[in-house]
Amino acid sequence: MSKCLVCQNEISPFISFGKMPLANGFLTQDQFKEEYFFEMKVAHCSKCNMVQLTEQPTKELMFNEHYAFYSGTSRAMDQHFEQFAQHVISDYINSDNPFVVEIGSNDGIMLKNFKKANIRHLGIEPSENVAAVARGNGINTISKFFNKELAEEIIKEYGKADAFLAANVMCHIPYMHSVVDGIKTLLKPNGIVMFEDPYWGDVIEKVSYDQIYDEHVFLFSVQSIKYLFEQHDMEVVDVEPQETHGGSMRYVIAHKGARKISENVHKQIKKEIALGLHLPETYVTFKKNCEASRDKLKSILVQLKNEGKRVVGYAATSKSTTILNYCDIGSDLIEFICDTTPIKQGKYSPGKHVPIKPYEEFKKDYPDYALLFAYNHAKEILAKEEEFKKMNKKWIMYVPKIGIK
Ligand code: SAH
Ligand code: TMP
Ligand code: ZN
Repeated sequence: MSKCLVCQNEISPFISFGKMPLANGFLTQDQFKEEYFFEMKVAHCSKCNMVQLTEQPTKELMFNEHYAFYSGTSRAMDQHFEQFAQHVISDYINSDNPFVVEIGSNDGIMLKNFKKANIRHLGIEPSENVAAVARGNGINTISKFFNKELAEEIIKEYGKADAFLAANVMCHIPYMHSVVDGIKTLLKPNGIVMFEDPYWGDVIEKVSYDQIYDEHVFLFSVQSIKYLFEQHDMEVVDVEPQETHGGSMRYVIAHKGARKISENVHKQIKKEIALGLHLPETYVTFKKNCEASRDKLKSILVQLKNEGKRVVGYAATSKSTTILNYCDIGSDLIEFICDTTPIKQGKYSPGKHVPIKPYEEFKKDYPDYALLFAYNHAKEILAKEEEFKKMNKKWIMYVPKIGIK
């Protein structure tokens, strides 16, 4: 038993994925013996509906000057954040000298659009290496972890914010009450909060359990976000489903009573109830679905190995760490994983130690099969890899369905 990070209710895990390393902990051979592991267990809180890890590595272990994820590696995400920024600018910003804050701003993929529009902005990005890329491009960025105290410092220097933005970072932060308190303090009376994260409803429907890894301490739903913000006199005024990261939800939040609540919020909650996100049975089924998915993927790879086929992993995503470790897939089953991120290349995958090679190694000598770990970028990647397909090579997919394409 442990306590819910949001409402303090007693919770107990409905699944354990076993010992897991850091999802972005790509490492060199001499680091193998001191590799960090924790038991990755997930619980659903029956009171506030928050789905959460019951144990998480400390933040400095995950987010530091060696952070391996650079947002700018996907063209599609670049376009996504341009649209996100345009939406904020045209629909929500109308003061004289607006000020926008983004947490988890990484290499500046979103804020560069505000810079271009000459809008005052501040990025909060604790991982020094990715923050340095943003600063190099003239994006105002500080390397700190966001919380209530930092919000007060920001107000002293810049004043209050018209918009508070976040993408794929709110779900990383266990001390949520300090964050929401900080947001509440920082936001102007008519200001807007917009953040998006992988959506728990999609994970349940697609059995995309690889969205669960150390950094994702929370798997949000509209119901759990509504509960959390209501504790701080704020309310969800709109929700906008997104296709990114295999299915995400963007939450639009304002001070209580400041804005009209869209019908979308009620509709989405109805969908969540129909999906049974509040019911214990859903979690029993989800566990069974995860096990079935794991066993099927593993058996496909074992069969291909027995047939003497060459299989390579495509894209060393954070999500792939959960797949490799939970399904027990190592370099006996996949030769290597190719990835375009220089900091990952030449290293080994967390836990299972599959070599990570530059993308060119894939191109040089196509394998018979490529296991697509970046299914969230499938459109972009499949379009780029037409030649692979033309040579009668095959993709192995596991979300939304396991199969060969
Ligand atoms: N927004 C980007 C990056 C997401 S990765 C995108 O969607 O592509 C999450 C980022 O959040 C990392 O760069 C990490 O360093 C940062 N981060 C983690 N904890 C944080 C915190 N408490 N405050 C601000 N940023 C944080
Ligand atoms: P993400 O799924 O967390 O966004 O991580 C994407 C990873 O996939 C990142 O390491 C870069 C890699 N990648 C490729 O190697 N090739 C590609 O074409 C794309 C889009 C991503
Ligand atoms: Zn709770």
